Amino acid sequence: MNVFELAYTALINNSIKEKIDLVTKLNNYKNSNLLDYQSSCHIKSIADPGRPEKPDLVRFKSVPKRDKSDVGMIKTIHAICHIEFNAINLALDAVYRFRDMEDKFYQDWIRVAFEEVQHFILINDYLNKNNYKYGDFEAHNGLWKMTIDTDYDVLARMALVPRVLEARGLDATPKIQKRFKNSNFKPMVEILDVIFKDEIGHVKIGNYWFNRLCKQRNLDSMVVFDQLIERHIGEKLRGPFNIEGRKLANFSKTELEYLQGT
Ligand SMILES: [Fe+2]
Repeated sequence: MNVFELAYTALINNSIKEKIDLVTKLNNYKNSNLLDYQSSCHIKSIADPGRPEKPDLVRFKSVPKRDKSDVGMIKTIHAICHIEFNAINLALDAVYRFRDMEDKFYQDWIRVAFEEVQHFILINDYLNKNNYKYGDFEAHNGLWKMTIDTDYDVLARMALVPRVLEARGLDATPKIQKRFKNSNFKPMVEILDVIFKDEIGHVKIGNYWFNRLCKQRNLDSMVVFDQLIERHIGEKLRGPFNIEGRKLANFSKTELEYLQGT
């Protein structure tokens, strides 16, 4: 079973159910040592990964500001659901796109894809309990952009996606949990606890591979990261940062000082 062919098939599949099944199979094959990690197929660029017809994707700015009413909170939950769905594709793309890495790289990102599937299910089930589902609201279309922007190099992908985008999720979670605590959607606090724990692992995986690649290429990780932030973000990363969460995800003391501008 070729890992790249299976990851590609899951990535481009538009059906939620089929994508979940394909990722689950991929994860099972990985656990049973049935995967072949030799690259055989050509790498295609993927402008749009597989996703269901709904939600309609709109430019970030045109998504109305979410309020604290029940529907406003449901919209927030829907936005998290969308992030989790995208995260499945993001992890699959990391598996599919970058060749000649150690087997562990693919195994790590398959694990991430599988955990993102669990997150998506958790949130979508909770939406269902409240008589909503993924696709009921518009969602923003910007989440895939950084994936395409970092297609050119696995080092850039590891720097920008797990270490910046996913790490921002760690920063934001406690604040969002606070909002849910004082709402009619308290079970979200616990759901986000589960997700947060896994996300720390995902950022950790990103840190591991980023640092490993820097070492292999004889690059100073701090300098490279700063250059990549300048190239892809164009400004300093903005806090507030969840320092404790980032520490758990293996950001070094030097990196945390860099983030805080000290
Ligand atoms: Fe997730």
